[in-house]
Amino acid sequence: MKEFCEKYLEILETEFKGLNLTRITDPKEFYNKQVLDSLLPLESSEIFMDALREKGLLVDVGFGGGFPLLPIAYKYPDIECLGIDSRRKKVDAVRRIGEMFHMEHLKVAHSRLEDIYFDRSAVLTFKAVGKITDLLPMIKSDQELFAFFYKGPNYSELERFDSVLRDWELVEEKMMSIPGTEGRVLLGFKKKGNVSPLMEKSLVKVSTLL
Ligand SMILES: C[S@@+](CC[C@H](N)C(=O)[O-])C[C@H]1O[C@@H](n2cnc3c(N)ncnc32)[C@H](O)[C@@H]1O
Repeated sequence: MKEFCEKYLEILETEFKGLNLTRITDPKEFYNKQVLDSLLPLESSEIFMDALREKGLLVDVGFGGGFPLLPIAYKYPDIECLGIDSRRKKVDAVRRIGEMFHMEHLKVAHSRLEDIYFDRSAVLTFKAVGKITDLLPMIKSDQELFAFFYKGPNYSELERFDSVLRDWELVEEKMMSIPGTEGRVLLGFKKKGNVSPLMEKSLVKVSTLL
C-alpha cells in the first residue's frame, strides 16, 4: 500500500488542495488512520472477507475523501467497487483519483442511500456516516445484503440497535487495535429474508450505477 499512500498524498497537494478530502497528511499517520483503518476491519474479519468474496460487489456509502473505498479498491482489483456520497465535490474528486490510479473496477455516484434500490446482492460499508438505527432502515432491496459498520470503541454506550434486529441479523462484532487510534469496532449485519418494499420508480437501481 506504500505506492497508494505516496500517490494519494501527492494528489492531495496538487489538484485537490483545499477540498478537505482528509485532514491527515503526515505519511505515517495517514497510513495508520486512513489506510490501515480502512483495510484492517475487512482483513481481520473472516465473515466480512468471505461475504465480499462471495458477493463480489462492495458499496461504500458516504466515502467522503475515499475511505474505506479507495484502499479496498486499490488492494482488491477483482472486487467491483461502488461509492455513493451525497457531496458532489467529493464524488468528482474521488472519481478523478480513481482514474489516476487506473481503477477500472471502481465507480462513484452522487446520490443518497435513501434514493438507491439494491437490485444486486452486495456488501455495504459505512464509516463515520451515521447511526446504525438510522441507516439500516433506509436500505431497500430484494437481494441478500451484508452491511458492515466501522465504529469507535465506545459505540455500545452511544448506540443501541435492538430495533433493527427484526430485519437484520448481527453477524459480526469485533474489536481491533489500530496504531495511533483509539481502536475500532466492526459491526456486521445480514439482511433477513428477501422481502422488501416494491421498487418505486423514483429510486435508482444500483445495477445502473455500475
Ligand atoms: C464524516 S464523512 C465520512 C467519510 C469517510 N467514510 C471517512 O470515514 O473518512 C460522512 C460522509 O457521508 C456522506 N453521507 C451522509 N449521509 C449520507 C447518505 N444518506 N447517503 C450518502 N452519503 C451520505 C456525507 O456526504 C459525507 O461525505
